[in-house]
Amino acid sequence: MGDEESKKWVLMVTAQAPTNMSVIKYWGKRDETLILPINDSISVTFDLQHLSTITTVSVSPTFLHDRLWLNGKEFSLSGDKYQRCLKEIRSCAGDVEDEKKGIKITKKDWENLHLHIASYNNFPTAAGLASSASGFACLVFALAKLMNLKEDNGKLSAIARQGSGSACRSLYGGFVKWFMGKNDDGSDSFAVQLADEKHWDDLLIVIPVVSSRQKETSSTRGMRESVETSTLIQYRAKEVVPKRIVEMEEAIKNRDFQSFARLTCAESNQFHAVCLDTSPPLFYMNDTSHRIITCVENWNHSEGSPQVAYTCDAGPNVVLFAQNRKVAALLLQRLFFHFPPHPDTDLKSYVLGDTSILQDVG
Ligand code: DP6
Repeated sequence: MGDEESKKWVLMVTAQAPTNMSVIKYWGKRDETLILPINDSISVTFDLQHLSTITTVSVSPTFLHDRLWLNGKEFSLSGDKYQRCLKEIRSCAGDVEDEKKGIKITKKDWENLHLHIASYNNFPTAAGLASSASGFACLVFALAKLMNLKEDNGKLSAIARQGSGSACRSLYGGFVKWFMGKNDDGSDSFAVQLADEKHWDDLLIVIPVVSSRQKETSSTRGMRESVETSTLIQYRAKEVVPKRIVEMEEAIKNRDFQSFARLTCAESNQFHAVCLDTSPPLFYMNDTSHRIITCVENWNHSEGSPQVAYTCDAGPNVVLFAQNRKVAALLLQRLFFHFPPHPDTDLKSYVLGDTSILQDVG
């Protein structure tokens, strides 16, 4: 084989990662560069079918630069978050050998080889449903496979964290806890699985996809402004969240929907209270989000106990957890009656799902 011929190989890996929704919220960093949070958080990972990212990563000696395409459009990889993730992954890369193709890449070669990354979200990125969480988790997972990293999921989670904080929780399915950690270098700030996706398989997720007319402040900027200006945020991080973390872990362990719902709704409401306590105030929910929450609150009240839990992140979409299939069906009936999906209204569609796991798809 001539020299040029021997350069014609391409190695690729495709992975799929779900997004996650926090039930104990991460909001506020103590270190902006390493993405170290001011409190622990807990999330539920969504199923792959409805809310996930698929990423193909490839390497070839013919590639001249690292390149990235998101939903078919090329984006620059020069941002700090991408650079930090790529640097960390390259530093942990292993040897790769494919005898059939005559490929041999040593640990050292990775420093000079360039990557092409193509990523697709199977949900509208503009819907504000945590695309950065599934995006960075998927990127790190796919690159770890391609580059034969020997690191465990804890280490991969810490790398994904440096792309986007919430991404560290998407490395696992089911119920996941992100430890804020104490070390300044971030070595103890990573996520672990509390319970797998089969642990509570009655629990169903219903997402009314609410459109957002105005551009929201990104989570990164919003939480920076909250840390700088809110007086409530420190009280929340130090006094409220640690207790709720213990209670939420207990609720998940015991599949105690009453406690799960009480804590999830209280967390969502306090997170938005912190947003309002920020200067200038951050308005992430809109009228439709408020009306959906009121509808759920009224229903829970009329039943005498929580049937459905709600939570809303840095956007207008409300994520609902129904305690079982029967409740989910009744919930959908109610929602369709009060908020029929229509292209001309604020309510675009509904997504139904359960919890799931990250997958290597080829
Ligand atoms: C409201 O992970 O998107 O969804 O770390 O700056 O990338 P960066 O922020 P990001 O923030 C998510 C915040 C949240 C709550 C949560 O997921 O816990």
